[in-house]
Amino acid sequence: MGLFITFEGSEGCGKSTQARLLYEHTRTLGYNVIHVREPGGTPIGDQIRAIVLGMNNTEMDPIAESLLFSASRAQLVHQVIRPHLAANGIVICDRYADSTYAYQGYGLGRNLADLRTLTAIATDGLVPDVTMWLRIDPAIGLQRKLHPDAAQVEWNRLDAHELAFHQRVASGYAALAEAEPGRWVACDAHLSIEALAAHIRTNLTPYLQTGRVAISPVNERTTP
Ligand SMILES: Nc1ncnc2c1ncn2[C@@H]1O[C@H](COP(=O)(O)OP(=O)(O)OP(=O)(O)O)[C@@H](O)[C@H]1O
Ligand SMILES: [Mg+2]
Repeated sequence: MGLFITFEGSEGCGKSTQARLLYEHTRTLGYNVIHVREPGGTPIGDQIRAIVLGMNNTEMDPIAESLLFSASRAQLVHQVIRPHLAANGIVICDRYADSTYAYQGYGLGRNLADLRTLTAIATDGLVPDVTMWLRIDPAIGLQRKLHPDAAQVEWNRLDAHELAFHQRVASGYAALAEAEPGRWVACDAHLSIEALAAHIRTNLTPYLQTGRVAISPVNERTTP
């Protein structure tokens, strides 16, 4: 059965920071956990990531873009996520299908029903058990990414959209969360890194207590 956790939210809200901290926390507790990101997470997916986020690919056709995101997702689900869940492990995924709905759907105005159909094909219907939604004022998230100390943070083709686009994405996340309240955990991403991590850990605890994930014996734990 396993546990499938995703992190969602606007640019620079802290998804990668928090996904890594939660990975380290659950690993320390003894769970068999992996940490992957989208697009990417597999050798094929990482090649697709370079195309889809490449700053030079300004002529990217909208349909081509959606198919590329879906292709990367299909590879990740079938090669990595499903096998790990089948072994009763925890999968922490930095962005997943909700990013498609928020960015391509709400942000760029593409047909949501089409995006859902495409996603259902790519993932074979795999939906996260819990989605950590890091809510932030999009202007603050973008400022974090442009801060000189954040030089290691990637600035990609989708970041380069205008602020109004990022505000539509943020409203899109709110609509998605409202439609499926049982899956989404709203987190205030303006909090400090540590306070936010504590909120996420607290909200995850009930999921860890359902017996759907097994603690691995020490000698079977995997190293990242
Ligand atoms: N709670 C926080 N408060 C202040 N700064 C933060 C916080 N969390 C992360 N940061 C900083 O903001 C920047 C972006 O963080 P991070 O890369 O984790 O965000 P992200 O949501 O993964 O971004 P992206 O959308 O680009 O993937 C980094 O420089 C990080 O150190
Ligand atoms: Mg990130």
